[in-house]
Amino acid sequence: MRSLLSGVLLSLWTASVDAYANPLSCSGTCTNAHDPALIRRDDGTYFRFSTGGKIAIHSAPSMTGPWTYRGAAIPNGSKIDKKGKDDLWAPDVIKVGSTYYLFYSVSSFGSQDSAIGVATSSSLDVNTWTDLGATGVASSSGKAYNAIDSNIFADGSTLYMNFGSFWGDLYQVQMQNPPTKVASGASSKNIAYIPSGDHAQEAAFLYKNGNYYYLFFSVGKCCGYDTNRPAAGQEYKIQVCRSSSATGNFVDKNGKKCAEGGGTTVLESHDWVYGPGGQGVYTDPSNGPVLYYHYVDTRVGYADGQKRFGINKINFSSGWPVV
Ligand SMILES: *[C@@H]1O[C@H](CO)[C@@H](O)[C@H](O)[C@H]1NC(C)=O
Ligand SMILES: *[C@@H]1O[C@H](CO)[C@@H](O)[C@H](O)[C@H]1NC(C)=O
Repeated sequence: MRSLLSGVLLSLWTASVDAYANPLSCSGTCTNAHDPALIRRDDGTYFRFSTGGKIAIHSAPSMTGPWTYRGAAIPNGSKIDKKGKDDLWAPDVIKVGSTYYLFYSVSSFGSQDSAIGVATSSSLDVNTWTDLGATGVASSSGKAYNAIDSNIFADGSTLYMNFGSFWGDLYQVQMQNPPTKVASGASSKNIAYIPSGDHAQEAAFLYKNGNYYYLFFSVGKCCGYDTNRPAAGQEYKIQVCRSSSATGNFVDKNGKKCAEGGGTTVLESHDWVYGPGGQGVYTDPSNGPVLYYHYVDTRVGYADGQKRFGINKINFSSGWPVV
């Protein structure tokens, strides 16, 4: 009995400690990967967009590299005239029709004076992006949300933008199709909220698998780990809720509402991976659904510029994403 019990405890312990696979190996430039957005062009070239450098563009012949830096997507800065227009954050890319739409945030750290802009290209390449500026999603001090960290989701031909960071956490608004502006008359509604503490939730990413819409997000502190590392467990981790609708009623694995602080952890610090977040999900033609994100490799360094690009395959067979 005793050995059976310790065997059960041992396997529980093993399951909780060794639950996460390490990221797939990455070659070429795997740093400069904060808040990555991943997309594959029809010719098989992968593109990665990331925070900083006026949205850095890297490309590679495969998802795992070798990645090469190509330049800035918006080299002259955003047309949106706010502080941060030359330091663009948190890109998201989607193809609608034959055009690629690149969404980005204009803000400054810890400020609610923020806006989400969009640029378009027909090829994803550097020097092909046209900045269209404001989408109409914006915030200022006193708003319920902070208008950064956009993610565009296509539910058939109906397009939604998910966004938000701290304050009232995650919001959603319907967009026009094509998604250059908020849909006429649409209003933003809350889809996830952590009522306690400093509401440390951001980086929404909605993904459909089977009959469910999975809302992924990052919880905790994202940045500055080299100078101001948070208490253990307060660093970034990736969580999820799901719903049978794209527009709300997201719950976690225990049935707790995402709008009331629910969230099931998909990936958190483990082994030499620290603070994974800023994630997205991509359906790769050869690997199926993959979770991509940035993380600190504790063997290398904790600075924001050292954040690395991570990819794990996702197993949805239980109805919940497992990496
Ligand atoms: C950036 O600004 C320069 C100088 O005004 C202009 O020649 C160039 O076309 C601009 N580039 C983009 C991508 O808008
Ligand atoms: C997915 O996870 C299930 C257990 O939930 C396992 O049986 C199955 O082999 C996994 N699939 C792959 C491709 O690893």
